[in-house]
Amino acid sequence: MARQRQAPEPPPCFALVIPGLEEVAEEEITKDLRGQVKRTGRGIVVFRPPEVDASLLHLRTAEDVFLLGWGTDQLTYRAEDLDRIRRWTAREVDWDRLLRLHHQVRPKPKGKPTYHLVAQMTGVHGYRRVDARKALAEGLAGKLPASWRHAEEKAAVEVWLTINGATAVCGLRLSDRTMRHRSYKREHLPASLRPTLAAAMVRLAEVRPNQTVLDPMCGAGTILAEVLEAGRNAKGGGIRVLGGDLDLTALRAAAANVRRLGRAFLARWDARRLPLADQSVDRLVSNPPFGKQLGRPEDIGPLYRQMVAEYHRVLGPWARAVLLVSDLGALKEAARAVGWKLLRSLKVRVLGQPAALTVWKKG
Ligand SMILES: C[S@@+](CC[C@H](N)C(=O)[O-])C[C@H]1O[C@@H](n2cnc3c(N)ncnc32)[C@H](O)[C@@H]1O
Repeated sequence: MARQRQAPEPPPCFALVIPGLEEVAEEEITKDLRGQVKRTGRGIVVFRPPEVDASLLHLRTAEDVFLLGWGTDQLTYRAEDLDRIRRWTAREVDWDRLLRLHHQVRPKPKGKPTYHLVAQMTGVHGYRRVDARKALAEGLAGKLPASWRHAEEKAAVEVWLTINGATAVCGLRLSDRTMRHRSYKREHLPASLRPTLAAAMVRLAEVRPNQTVLDPMCGAGTILAEVLEAGRNAKGGGIRVLGGDLDLTALRAAAANVRRLGRAFLARWDARRLPLADQSVDRLVSNPPFGKQLGRPEDIGPLYRQMVAEYHRVLGPWARAVLLVSDLGALKEAARAVGWKLLRSLKVRVLGQPAALTVWKKG
């Protein structure tokens, strides 16, 4: 009897995410992609996808996605790590297979292919980033076709080594800059959110079809854009998207950013006095000023109190609010005054500052 050949299992992949968003990325990988999460480290989620195809590039909470060559949680921080990087890169990886899979997702460009090596490193190690990159290059010697040329920019294939404390992952990058920057983001403001963080906020809001979603301080509209994108991908749709800001320049940027994605109602307003009916909103997703780039730290307490009282008025019973703030204490005080319940709180960094990504339920 002829034995049936089983299709080989797809290799593991990894996603780089904003530190603090690992749990949300794990949920997206498990529920939306139907992948199996294997390991999670700070800013890194290793998983096995059901297939290696373009669906990997649709992950919204990942900054970048890679085919995994090798990974470890046991770097020593000493120079001997460099030998391991060299050895694992040379011996532990079937680079031919990874390249074939890479070309399935990102077809080979015409002409002589080019490659680029990237090493990034956080934590204090007894060697420099350039040493790690050199070890990677040495390990790769003879692994890529001899005709391929090194290129600093727009290379067809990128091999990345990411070292984060004792954890390191090395692999072929499947994504490009549009994954993290998105193609809708035409206008940028200094306090604008990174799209993957906005996507994580929208995910935590658990928006359902036919709901009304509001960002009362929408800035350049990143959250609104992510709501529209998520709504387009979800079955059902019919989501009503509302946004506003005190600042006209921000509103213009928001209009430019969301224009191609669908319909959002935009208005100039003060979020402390919204021109909206009581209990007319199902989900509120927003990041108010941190009091650093915009506003003063001493204004944050009073602003949060007034804004939460107003948000409480416009939210329907059992509605959710997802708020990204710098001063969690001030937000908790404001939420206590209206009886909101804190469902979840994640620690993230925004523009180098610690921040809390919080999910609230109106009782
Ligand atoms: C941190 S930014 C929001 C960034 C936005 N999520 C983005 O990705 O571009 C905060 C925004 O709140 C706006 N803002 C501050 N106080 C406000 C108020 N009382 N009412 C409405 N908007 C306000 C600011 O103009 C600013 O655009």
